[in-house]
Amino acid sequence: MVWYKRKENIAGGIIAAVAVTLILGLSLGLTRRQKTIKSTFFSRCEKFKEHDCQKLWDLFEKAHVNKDPCNVPVEAYDPLIAAAPFIPDCKKMMFWSGTKDVVHDLTAKRKDCYFTLEDTLLGSILDGLMWCGKNGKDDTFTTGCPGWSDCENNPVRSFWKCASAAYADAACGDVTAMLSGSTTTPFDPESIFASIEVTRLKAPRVSSLNVVMVLQMNAKSDCTNASLKNLQNQLDPNITYSCKDVAEHRVEQCGSQPQIMCGSCW
Ligand SMILES: *[C@@H]1O[C@H](CO)[C@@H](O)[C@H](O)[C@H]1NC(C)=O
Ligand SMILES: *[C@@H]1O[C@H](CO)[C@@H](O)[C@H](O)[C@H]1NC(C)=O
Repeated sequence: MVWYKRKENIAGGIIAAVAVTLILGLSLGLTRRQKTIKSTFFSRCEKFKEHDCQKLWDLFEKAHVNKDPCNVPVEAYDPLIAAAPFIPDCKKMMFWSGTKDVVHDLTAKRKDCYFTLEDTLLGSILDGLMWCGKNGKDDTFTTGCPGWSDCENNPVRSFWKCASAAYADAACGDVTAMLSGSTTTPFDPESIFASIEVTRLKAPRVSSLNVVMVLQMNAKSDCTNASLKNLQNQLDPNITYSCKDVAEHRVEQCGSQPQIMCGSCW
């Protein structure tokens, strides 16, 4: 009997140990996941030395924490955007649609020539990240969040809409937009560039919009595509419009050869 009981105790002990390990593992995994976006936020933010990263994190969380992840309006991120205003450089502003990789390869290498929203403080902190809050929870989650198109008012989409509007409002001088000749509709009405940014460019602050149509091999469209007529119709008539077809390798060349002058990239 005694022997039997001890065996039971051992079995119980093993079960308890397994349970404790599981719970510990789960909660560690959970804190690690939650920690990831926070530590990414801070490490990216701290590269920009002149900002109060804790304040930005608090404003970031305030926008979506403890809310239904499909009901975070664009305005929720206004206080965050206001705390980190864009300081535009009127010679370098670049917009893009459908050309994210080629544009960011270029801006990473040619900070002397161009920068995008993703090169600004908030844009670079949140680029590529996924997050949301949940009703009744005080944390920022990175899993189980609605995707870009799952619902209109999801936190990621609302943030980028809010940031894009502010970025376009700050635009000045000669502005470049890189569009993709690999799509049938380079000026896609669904894109952030078409739906938010273009109509916010205002003369005389902005003097010109220079579209660079990036052409890969077997490109589907170029500067003659009808969607660009829509762009011109939506653009402030006092902003000078131009469009140039440029081979993708030419754009890449500009990134790899720093001796090319900014104005001679294409
Ligand atoms: C160019 O634009 C229009 C709409 O604006 C689109 O329907 C069409 O497919 C495009 N043309 C080509 C050749 O892809
Ligand atoms: C464009 O510029 C002209 C001259 O500066 C001005 O009279 C006109 O109101 C402007 N048009 C628009 C739509 O802003």
